[in-house]
Amino acid sequence: MPLALRPSGYPSRIYERLYGSAGPWYDLVVGWGMFPLGGDRRCRRDFAAWCDARPGQQVVSLCCGTGNTERAILDRTPDVELVAFDLGPGQIARARRKAERLRTPVPPRFEVGDAAATGLPAAGYDRVLVGLCLHEMPRDLRLRVLREAARLCRPSGKVIAIEHNRASGRLARAGQWLWWLYWLPGNPEAVTSLDLQRSGLDREMEQAGLRLLERHYTRPDWVQGLVAEPGGCLTPGNRVRYRL
Ligand SMILES: C[S@@+](CC[C@H](N)C(=O)[O-])C[C@H]1O[C@@H](n2cnc3c(N)ncnc32)[C@H](O)[C@@H]1O
Repeated sequence: MPLALRPSGYPSRIYERLYGSAGPWYDLVVGWGMFPLGGDRRCRRDFAAWCDARPGQQVVSLCCGTGNTERAILDRTPDVELVAFDLGPGQIARARRKAERLRTPVPPRFEVGDAAATGLPAAGYDRVLVGLCLHEMPRDLRLRVLREAARLCRPSGKVIAIEHNRASGRLARAGQWLWWLYWLPGNPEAVTSLDLQRSGLDREMEQAGLRLLERHYTRPDWVQGLVAEPGGCLTPGNRVRYRL
């Protein structure tokens, strides 16, 4: 059954509470989640490397949260022009506060906005980041966000989607299941994350008109980073002809 979105745009009240307030809650939660992968900072450095933004490029980030990956991108390449969106006012307030401490030639912009409809010009960005948000969304919203990412990306640019991965091996999967509380009744992300893992991020990116270029994984492989370019050759039925 399709999951209905609340008026806030989130599928659950838990997200409204977590992302609406500007407290340190999110960073504590995400720090816990990333601990087995080497910690949040290390993961963000890897994500920035997967993003591979070059000096002078224009970068847009959809669902930026409190700006942790964006900070790693700016640490790695200070002279990019970065604009980032999130639906949560609390997340954006915290991201802005963190950005005040950055010394970048062009200050990054953090804005409250819907990742599925940014209102930004088409084909205007060299890097489009979709970071760790799709697993909290129902399938139709995931597709809308990925289509928006494809729309924003220049033909020569790249879309980088970072997401929960179906860990390989029973032990790794059991660890992921336990640590990320997929077993917890009422955990809203268990439903959508497991649906994404079943459906396949690569397949959903292809459906959105993206052609896969690279795959990256954390260690253990609980998180994946798929790098794609616009222009998957879609048939009328939205099925992709090419294979990696
Ligand atoms: C798990 S957090 C990930 C945040 C960040 N990208 C990170 O890596 O830490 C998911 C984020 O997606 C945001 N989000 C969910 N739906 C959104 C939408 N339609 N438009 C913009 N942001 C959205 C939430 O507010 C939340 O901050």
